[in-house]
Amino acid sequence: MRLGKFIIEESGPLQGRVRISGSKNSVLPIIAATLLTDKTCIISDVPRLTDVLVMQNLIEDFGGSTAWDQKNERLTIRNTNINKTEASYELCAKMRASFLVAGPILARMGEVRVSLPGGCAIGTRPVDLHLKGLAALGAEISTEHGFICARAKKLRGTNIYLDFPSVGATENIMMAAVLAQGQTIIQNSAVEPEIVDLANFLSACGAKIRGSGTDTIRINGVDELHGAEHTIIPDRIEAGTFMLAAAATGGDIRITNTVPDHLRPAIAKLREANVQIEEFGDEIAIAGGGQRRPIDIKTMPYPGFPTDMQAQFVAMLATTRGTNIITETIFENRFMHIPEFKRMGAEIKIDSRSAIIEGVEKLTGTQVKATDLRAGAALILAALRAEGQTEIHDIYHIDRGYCAFDEKLRNLGAKIIRIDE
Ligand code: EPU
Repeated sequence: MRLGKFIIEESGPLQGRVRISGSKNSVLPIIAATLLTDKTCIISDVPRLTDVLVMQNLIEDFGGSTAWDQKNERLTIRNTNINKTEASYELCAKMRASFLVAGPILARMGEVRVSLPGGCAIGTRPVDLHLKGLAALGAEISTEHGFICARAKKLRGTNIYLDFPSVGATENIMMAAVLAQGQTIIQNSAVEPEIVDLANFLSACGAKIRGSGTDTIRINGVDELHGAEHTIIPDRIEAGTFMLAAAATGGDIRITNTVPDHLRPAIAKLREANVQIEEFGDEIAIAGGGQRRPIDIKTMPYPGFPTDMQAQFVAMLATTRGTNIITETIFENRFMHIPEFKRMGAEIKIDSRSAIIEGVEKLTGTQVKATDLRAGAALILAALRAEGQTEIHDIYHIDRGYCAFDEKLRNLGAKIIRIDE
């Protein structure tokens, strides 16, 4: 695998317009959901990310056929000849979201074997809630030689209460339940916009789903699904990252193709920090030139403040005078970027689940490592206004979730070059 690095020079305030790509965390479950039908599905605004290519490979490994129309960011998928029930270890090891094929393959084929996901940089991330849900729908679950196996001749609808509103568990259970016999009610379900996008795609394929976007989802099973055309929602975390790029560099950026309602918590916190934000339909203008105020943040499930924006806020708060506190409640190990920020001169202490950030005047460029996707993006933001030159290593993490990130930043005036190594 190519690890790659970015070399970034201190840049002036970023300025210009940037178009946001389709959502990574929507498109991954939606590609998995195409496994529920043998008819053609056409998905538009698909970001060409390495995680998306892994999901595409998984579909093909099961026997599906896929075709990219790159110019129009459209992916056509036809899963007529699904001839396997096992998701290969190699592909599952590349991406945890591979586990999202479990629900659809089980519902379609009556059994599935998926490699048990290993630990990952941001936490242990178990799949117990996914499995509890599939078991409640009547699947027999076992673990064999590192694989999780689920079997059920016919899934049966039931009431499922999730102990925690897990995004992935809600998605896997929804996908399994659309072909189950009778009604499934998922309570304390996740309410993220990506759940609503998945429900809209499934409904376009003929599924009967009510209540997505609320904490109670009702699904009436149908015998089969047909194909559909669907456009992926804009990526709210990519949009939020560009908002922080404007805020952190004191720039002026206009973000197009976005849904401001999906960004409420980030917008509220930026305004609290004295960043100017205006909304115009599906566009947002951010002006980060004023004197920033310190803030406190606590990550929560949607519509609370997203864990996927936590690291990018660290990049801004590292130079926001005063004491800032960020508390991470979703993942137990999502402060791996803090030591990297400290190498750049940030003053940050970790106390249990909180990072206490004493804003400094300026960060300084040095060599740092992207420890995960969002951490990598955050280090880029910090490097853009750090004194001198910063080298960011292991940038393959960033390519998993940001489409042409360096190119989009260069168009806004960032001095960033990519070195393949
Ligand atoms: N959890 C369990 N048991 C389960 C499932 C989850 O204990 O069976 C725990 C996790 O360990 C974690 C918490 O619940 O502590 C939240 O996990 P969740 O299932 O909600 O997250 P996910 O589905 O694994 C998705 C996104 C993540 C994002 C989280 C939270 C995708 C492909 N991934 O992960 O995105 O951080 O929701 O919003 O949708 C990213 O894009 O950088 C990213 C990590």
